[in-house]
Amino acid sequence: MNIILLGPPGAGKGTLSKKIIENLNAVQISTGDIFRYNIKNETPLGVKAKGYMDKGELVPDEVTIDLLWDYFDKLENNEDSELLVLFDGFPRTLNQAKALDNGMDERDQKIDGVIYFDVDYDTLIKRTTGRRVCPECGATYHIENHPPKVEGICDKCGTQLIQRQDDQLETVKNRIDVYNEQTAVLIDYYTNKGILKSIDGTKTVDEIFDEFSDKLGELN
Ligand code: AP5
Repeated sequence: MNIILLGPPGAGKGTLSKKIIENLNAVQISTGDIFRYNIKNETPLGVKAKGYMDKGELVPDEVTIDLLWDYFDKLENNEDSELLVLFDGFPRTLNQAKALDNGMDERDQKIDGVIYFDVDYDTLIKRTTGRRVCPECGATYHIENHPPKVEGICDKCGTQLIQRQDDQLETVKNRIDVYNEQTAVLIDYYTNKGILKSIDGTKTVDEIFDEFSDKLGELN
């Protein structure tokens, strides 16, 4: 099954993806993670993406769409109907959504469902500005909701945690504006296709996972 996780910055898409992968036969394609990997390794793609990401703007569609298919086509067993492929942070524009539909058609596949995270503005701001990440293993923490055992140090690998460049308050506000201007339109797009399910993203991670599992059952 191909499932899109749709929601604003800090809605909890990455956190839920990790929980799903721990519990179900699932893989995640996160365009944000792919861009950050390329920035860290100073690849040409990373250099191109960094300027947009640091300002909280979207990386251009032509770059992002090709990248998405490149990763999707390299997934092992992506035609296995038992495998859950989670699209985290893609699509983010109508153009990307249409390209995704066309590309799925060409592969005799489809988007089976869209999980939309409903989260209020203040919660998004608190979650993003309080987030800390491990630059080594990718683990995610929050200074209040999910602090590491030792302040500033990753529980899993002992590396010093960092704040994402785009988690500064002003950049986060711009990311939310960009989401409202360019991505929120996808809620109607997928509602009209009858495949969008909303979940209350303000609940605990365990509660959200249970809700996700219920919605997945409805989509099956
Ligand atoms: P991306 O990395 O995709 O960022 P995002 O969508 O803005 O999402 P976030 O990673 O900020 O949030 P999340 O929903 O995953 O929340 P998380 O689980 O981490 O994109 C970054 C940039 O890359 C974009 O701005 C753009 O420039 C570029 N880009 C990426 N994809 C693109 C595309 N398709 N097209 C063009 N450009 C693209 O949680 C956040 C915090 O909250 C954490 O600290 C976590 O611990 C905490 N938390 C999570 N869930 C809960 C909960 N239930 N209760 C309490 N705390 C929680």
